[in-house]
Amino acid sequence: MKRPVAAVVATGRSAPDTVMTNHDFASIGIETSHEWIFERSGIVERRVAKKGETTASMGAAAGRIAMERAGVQPGEVDVIVLSTATADRLLPSTAVDIQAKLGATRAAAFDISAACSGWLYSMTTAEGLIMSGVAETALVIGSEKMSAIVDWTDRSTCVLFGDGAGACVLKRSKTGKGILSAFMRSDGKLAELLYRPDGGATTPFSAEVLEKKSHLVRMAGREVFKHAVRSMSEAADRALDGAKLTGSDIDLLIPHQANVRIIEATAKHSGISMDKVFVNVDRYGNTSSASIPIALDEAIEQGRVKEGSTVMLVAFGAGFTWASMIIRF
Ligand code: UT7
Repeated sequence: MKRPVAAVVATGRSAPDTVMTNHDFASIGIETSHEWIFERSGIVERRVAKKGETTASMGAAAGRIAMERAGVQPGEVDVIVLSTATADRLLPSTAVDIQAKLGATRAAAFDISAACSGWLYSMTTAEGLIMSGVAETALVIGSEKMSAIVDWTDRSTCVLFGDGAGACVLKRSKTGKGILSAFMRSDGKLAELLYRPDGGATTPFSAEVLEKKSHLVRMAGREVFKHAVRSMSEAADRALDGAKLTGSDIDLLIPHQANVRIIEATAKHSGISMDKVFVNVDRYGNTSSASIPIALDEAIEQGRVKEGSTVMLVAFGAGFTWASMIIRF
């Protein structure tokens, strides 16, 4: 087993107060139904940011709660690693806005772009900085304002996503607890199954882009679904191998919350019964890279993650990217 050197000290989350239910889509002229959305995805409602609520404001709020619970002062944070697919601006990073909001005057800050797998990529990056001695205390945040990048006229995507942020303080540990294994993979050949075609440096934003709405998320849902099941199962296997554990050693599985059917298939593959799986996709929808840290924070709050718990985290997202991690608390 890999020697744990980075441990989760505390977590936090922040989501907009505004709740949008499946029934609310009728009021914006979307031809859908609660039954369709719930049966296909398990989603009942999601949070949607109001004007002025940003990726940085939600991320900073989640980070502040995690720091307070960890008893860490802003000036003690060495690095802020923010996972986001919904940066507030293209330059500079949203992480530096969070650094400024928190007053983390000694912290390096940067964004990681790995879509829904991004928080696990960020955790693995932060762990590496801690292991190498570059940092002792890291704030690892996933924050997403998906409502800003979905096409609100495309029923095949707009019903699936939501906004929110989750965070944790990760610190060097000598207790034997912490990250036991981590795994990351990607396959960029499949990028166009889930992407925003334009609006970047290749085809900068223009009236034509706006007209075509090609700056917004496009997804081949059924294809993505198949890859998600396969890749999340592989990621779970690799995390278990890395920690020399089996599914029966896992006290709680916290998968990326995109679709309850993907979650069930991943759990089944690893031989983990659904009573050991954390699900909150019904209340948040898919918050991309914020989904796992939000779920982890709720699981801790509900007492489902306790001292000594062994927790497996598994994610899949655009890229494609997929990743996993086992943490002992
Ligand atoms: O975050 C990581 C990446 N994302 C994911 O992991 C999401 C992966 N994909 C999925 O979760 C599922 O594929 C969806 C929930 C997106 C869709 O479920 P599905 O069972 O794969 O449905 P489908 O896309 O095959 O669509 C079936 C039908 C289509 O109609 P026809 O062509 O069969 O007549 C769609 O037009 O459902 C129709 N449809 C809708 N109907 C009502 C699509 N969206 C809607 C909607 N309401 N919102």
